[in-house]
Amino acid sequence: MCGIVGYTGFQDAYDIVINGLKRLEYRGYDSAGIVLENGNKKLEVEKTKGKVDDLVNISGKLKGVAKIGMGHTRWATHGVPSDRNSHPHLSNNGKIAIIHNGIIENYDTIKTMLTEKGFTFKSETDTEVLVNLVQYFMDLNSETDFPTAVRYALNEVYGAYAITVMHEDFPGVLVVGRLGSPLAIGIGDKEYFIASDASPFVEFTKEAIYLEEGHMATISLENGVDIRTINDNSKIEPEIQKLKLSLEQIEKGGYEHFMLKEIFEQPKSIHDTMRGRLLVDEGVIKMAGIWDHVEKFKNANRIIIIACGTSWHAGLIGEYLIEEYARIPVEVEYASEFRYRNPIITDKDVVIAISQSGETADTMAALKLAKEKGAFIYGICNVVDSSIARITDAGSYTHAGPEIGVASTKAFTAQLTILTLIAFKLGKHNGTLDNTSFMSLIAELDLIPKKIEEVLSTTHELVKNISKDFVKSTNFLYLGRGYNYPAALEGALKLKEISYIHAEGYPAAEMKHGPIALIDENMPIVIIAPKKGHYDKIVSNVQEIKARKGKLIAVVNKGDQQVSEMADYVIEIPETSECFSPILASVPLQLLAYYIAVYRGANVDQPRNLAKSVTVE
Ligand code: F6R
Repeated sequence: MCGIVGYTGFQDAYDIVINGLKRLEYRGYDSAGIVLENGNKKLEVEKTKGKVDDLVNISGKLKGVAKIGMGHTRWATHGVPSDRNSHPHLSNNGKIAIIHNGIIENYDTIKTMLTEKGFTFKSETDTEVLVNLVQYFMDLNSETDFPTAVRYALNEVYGAYAITVMHEDFPGVLVVGRLGSPLAIGIGDKEYFIASDASPFVEFTKEAIYLEEGHMATISLENGVDIRTINDNSKIEPEIQKLKLSLEQIEKGGYEHFMLKEIFEQPKSIHDTMRGRLLVDEGVIKMAGIWDHVEKFKNANRIIIIACGTSWHAGLIGEYLIEEYARIPVEVEYASEFRYRNPIITDKDVVIAISQSGETADTMAALKLAKEKGAFIYGICNVVDSSIARITDAGSYTHAGPEIGVASTKAFTAQLTILTLIAFKLGKHNGTLDNTSFMSLIAELDLIPKKIEEVLSTTHELVKNISKDFVKSTNFLYLGRGYNYPAALEGALKLKEISYIHAEGYPAAEMKHGPIALIDENMPIVIIAPKKGHYDKIVSNVQEIKARKGKLIAVVNKGDQQVSEMADYVIEIPETSECFSPILASVPLQLLAYYIAVYRGANVDQPRNLAKSVTVE
């Protein structure tokens, strides 16, 4: 949720930390802060409620001076967003500074203990408790050095964290630790970088260590990177990885927002997701993760798909795909509900976790539960080496590239692509999808990137114009049937999260069981009505809407007549098989949400109260 950046080396620490925070701002953006060593072995903190740009406005005293420092961009958990609650936090003696991503669950007990020992607290955060616990251990025994005190402190806390700590008496040293939240260490030439992901340092080095769960590291210019286990101080050999990330991938590339860039990247991201997997000429789908465990899938009692938010919507479409083509029963669960309802899971179940970030705490916790009960765990993640990707038994990466806009777009369509490949692969193997149908479906799937290009070029300006008419709307209904019911849910989620307009998604036929009461001339209704997929039924739903004067925006196939004649606004997409239509239909709905939000003056890439990866429950 929060973004962490640290630097020790020979360059201007202020610039590196501030620029790094800008790259990590997608992780949280209600406050920001920086701590630097001032050249006289003293730590100086500057922090504020607001964005990194607000921090820039109030900071900069040590620009060009400090060679070590760290910064934080926050998504509030304990304590409201305020200057006081912003990170970094200093220990009572002012010598130790900390930045933290995550939650210390037992902070209250520790705070009581420290208060009894005379410690005082300026903020309401759990983080300030942790930094004072480090001071406490150093005060307790003058032999305890700084990294050891951090280790002692981490052994007292439970919860989830990625932390970076610095101490003014230990020049050039940063101590980091990780449990449940990601942390990467960039290895430069006589310099080191710390960050929640590699984006802040990719322009300086391509070598990084991803700290493992339960590990901490002491990073110093003198001794390099010393990694230890937090619980018993065992030494760990660092595993240095070569980064594939490029600067271009994490910049806006001329687009006004990351979200728009990512919408337009979908022909490429879907192509990249299929690359090396969909071999149309050979008539095969190659997916080692599935193939190596194909009997597990075939013999599974059922597949349980676990996810949150947009990834959960992808899971619903996955259910339709896998049940239709592979004929294996599928259940789709919200991760947060699944883990708390004592679900029945056996070793005959296969659990598929879908997560763009691979860090979502609810999904992670649900997976751990399923794993304990013996289920086989398959992951669909976008972020390589993420926590979820690491704990699964097998999986497929989506290869959509970094998704920075908080609202998920290209990761969603990449997830649908992977689920489609899985369904076809299993269907072929199980004999539930005959060869002729398989061949025609994969040929059609191969055309999807081209069809998205067409959707983007034919609907972009149109949707932009349509959006202007809905800037003042306060409610929206999104309707679809079959495969496009989850697409309607996703369209509604996109609109509400970035424009703050209330929106509901419904199966079109359910409308008459309640939501129809909402329809009048002020209610915009988006209906997804492709030719293939219950079209006649949808026509009846449209008639019901028009009889009540609802304002209808219809997503239809090119050349459509019946629905188009009744609609107030028509958005045409190319024809495709029903199972691919949510991919094509999602694109104009993403654009609709995007432009309505832009015209309402909302911060599209950083919507209020949200953050990109939700690492708290
Ligand atoms: C919506 C959105 C969220 C995420 C959800 C799960 O646009 O981005 O609903 O889909 O928080 O995140 P991941 O996929 O990272 O597990």
